[in-house]
Amino acid sequence: MDPLLRYRDQFPALENSVYLISHSLGAMPRRTEQELQAFADLWVQEGINAWHTWLPEVERAAERVGKIIGAPAGTMIMLTNVSEAQARIASCLDYSGARKKVVYSELNFPSVSYLWQSEARRGAEVVVVPSDDGILVSTERLCAAIDERTLIVPISHVLFRSSAIKDVLAITRRAHEVGALVLLDCYQSAGVVPFDVTKLDVDFAYGGSVKWLCGGPGAGYLYVRKDRIPEFSPRVTGWFGHEKPFAFAMPEQRYAEGIWRFMAGTPAIAALYQARAGAEIIAEIGVDKIRQKSLRQTSRILQICDAANYRVKTPREDNRRGGTVCFDFDGAAQVAETLCQKKFFCDHRPGSGIRVSPHFYSTDEEVERFMQEVARLKGAL
Ligand SMILES: Cc1ncc(COP(=O)(O)O)c(C=O)c1O
Repeated sequence: MDPLLRYRDQFPALENSVYLISHSLGAMPRRTEQELQAFADLWVQEGINAWHTWLPEVERAAERVGKIIGAPAGTMIMLTNVSEAQARIASCLDYSGARKKVVYSELNFPSVSYLWQSEARRGAEVVVVPSDDGILVSTERLCAAIDERTLIVPISHVLFRSSAIKDVLAITRRAHEVGALVLLDCYQSAGVVPFDVTKLDVDFAYGGSVKWLCGGPGAGYLYVRKDRIPEFSPRVTGWFGHEKPFAFAMPEQRYAEGIWRFMAGTPAIAALYQARAGAEIIAEIGVDKIRQKSLRQTSRILQICDAANYRVKTPREDNRRGGTVCFDFDGAAQVAETLCQKKFFCDHRPGSGIRVSPHFYSTDEEVERFMQEVARLKGAL
């Protein structure tokens, strides 16, 4: 008996679907409805005084996610999404000196590329390291592109295109050796692959709650290494980044000393209530246990893919793959669309094929049934 299945009844969507899409949208915990109701009740009953409860929720939400990714107290803030978090970091940087290179791989999430490409307008020299196979980017090649002129290296921990795990430590070592910063996108690892941002020694990390954390949209987060926090003053800022927001001082920003200096406008509180149950459940189970189960189920999916001769787009070694398996065949996009219509939830990405992700709440039987349905629909093409 799988002990994690006792959490299943906390996720109502599992009653009428085969939910294998937690790399994109984690299932909603039953409790989330009550949490959102609690947010609304405070608004109605407390009026403006709701802020006395709402504002501390920002710290509590940061602490909840911090526990999952190893971020110590005072190193995390909540923002709405990854694009916003990285824009905040980019706005701390200055490209006027000799150190102006931004180095990242072509397999990073597109938002990451779009933002850094636009930083070229401010003087950044952007280097995109290519992949040979669309699955991996060689660590050696990435490290070779990092030199004394490199300012920042944005890396994706688990690649959304292939679920390959990057060797973050090796890249961080190289970056720090030459004085460059490392920015980790841990969206596809947080909640399914165990790690600790302090052990990975990255300078910044960001992610969101939509996927493996089962928290829905709007509860993104940003981690900054404790000793580096005072070094940065985001150009993109706002009154919540001020040392005394409620002094309404003019005209220029006086940054808060701690992590709040990375805040800008009024935080999106409802999203933090919405994300609470998911983060608590993940922390209660523990990512180590989630990972053990995930490896077992993704191994089984790989086995079925091999037997069916699907083109596997995910590394096979346990220590090199995240929580998703990507596989492709002619007509896979159409099959994925039909699967979703029939509530066998998965998705399809060009070049990656079908992406399928069991989570702690998935049964072995669902995995088998899903793969049988894939085979049946493929046969009917
Ligand atoms: C690795 C990764 N980074 C970022 C994002 C999304 O970024 P944002 O929070 O800006 O929507 C995704 C998926 O949507 C992702 O898989």
